[in-house]
Amino acid sequence: MAKYRIRGEQKLEGDIRVKGAKNSALPVLAAVLLSEKPVILHDIPKLIDIDNMVLILSSIGCKIKREGNTLIVDPSSVNSWVIPDKYVKEIRSSIVMLGAVLARMKKALITYPGGCEIGQRPINLHLQGLKKLGVKINDSHGYLECQADRLVGANIHLDYPSVGATENIMLAATKAEGTTVIRNAAKEPEIIDLQNFINSMGGRVAGAGSNTITIKGVESFHGSEYRVLPDRIVAGTYLAAAAITGSEITISNVNFEHIQSMVTKLREAGCSIINFNNSVRIKAPTRLRAIEHTKTYPYPGFPTDMQALLMSMLTVAQGTSIITENIFENRFKHVPEMIRMGANIRTEGKIAVIQGVNRLKGAQVNASDLRGGAALVLAGLNAEGETIVENIHHIDRGYEGLEQKLRSLGADIERL
Ligand code: UD1
Repeated sequence: MAKYRIRGEQKLEGDIRVKGAKNSALPVLAAVLLSEKPVILHDIPKLIDIDNMVLILSSIGCKIKREGNTLIVDPSSVNSWVIPDKYVKEIRSSIVMLGAVLARMKKALITYPGGCEIGQRPINLHLQGLKKLGVKINDSHGYLECQADRLVGANIHLDYPSVGATENIMLAATKAEGTTVIRNAAKEPEIIDLQNFINSMGGRVAGAGSNTITIKGVESFHGSEYRVLPDRIVAGTYLAAAAITGSEITISNVNFEHIQSMVTKLREAGCSIINFNNSVRIKAPTRLRAIEHTKTYPYPGFPTDMQALLMSMLTVAQGTSIITENIFENRFKHVPEMIRMGANIRTEGKIAVIQGVNRLKGAQVNASDLRGGAALVLAGLNAEGETIVENIHHIDRGYEGLEQKLRSLGADIERL
């Protein structure tokens, strides 16, 4: 298993560019199935999760070519509705294929994705929404056999603004007869990106970014050329890297509005941040200040995907910080690893209390999920001595060339 060796205490300096968002690219790739015509997608990050999504699309008949960060997808010969188990198990977000395959084929077979490192991750809201559109779902022996004679528009109220459920329902409704209205929809920027992509192929989706999304069914879609939006979590990760090392760096290809909740926290911690020409420049103080209380919420609240990264910064801030994780029940797995590095953190249920120390100490630690793993890398950048982060395949799921980018900024990090 690959690992990182990091020798900490180096200041970072320079410029980096963020690529397209994984969490946009995945549903956008699923949405390609709506069309019978070729689609060109730009700025698709090179990540294991994306590779697996590409393998799923190939396995059901899509022809796909990659040229750097551009994917050319020809979905004209899709001929299967069976989504292969092995990929669904590896990439949980492949559940978003369900809505797209149903829109295209009116049936789909997918293994139940089950829980993952960060929590149980039920899909009840996805399935309730699809049933409202007329899909019959037979849940047997761990498989979901889905079939619809007709997909018919419906009024759907989500109990919770789930990102995946909103995307799956949007996708299935694009070809339904009549109009679908999703209320209490997720408002994440990636939902707006999916709407824009669907509309670029001839779809009629409106309202994404608000809590009510309206989807008018259309009969056919055409091809499209589309660039996915920049990854706000990756941008936030590099901002946190600058903060934890007391550095000054510039990050380009950033939508400033999408990172507002993180920028607010960084400013509270004493960083100065300016926004210009789709770029952001951060200058961190020698010592960060503690942040009173951060609670994760659906967008535009503070993202759960930034929680571990914010925590790594706060381990070395002056004073006591509190973080409440409201979204996933098992998202503090990085805490015992940070404690091994000298952090002073106590958790009780979904609350973590972080008492800042002067500096972390290098140790051998284990990445057990994507963002928690990246947070340990940031901790290693601060730490005195050598840090080994094991199981970095989790980190590879969401960061293209993390070590190259950090090295270009002056970090001492290598993949072993
Ligand atoms: C997406 C993101 C993930 C991010 C999360 C929350 C992708 C590929 N992944 O995941 O990085 O951390 O949003 O911002 O975009 N829930 C239910 N029933 C359901 C669906 C969800 O109870 O049917 C619950 C979940 O257990 C969780 C909460 O809703 O507690 C949020 O989940 P959801 O918004 O669906 O997250 P994902 O789409 O899985």
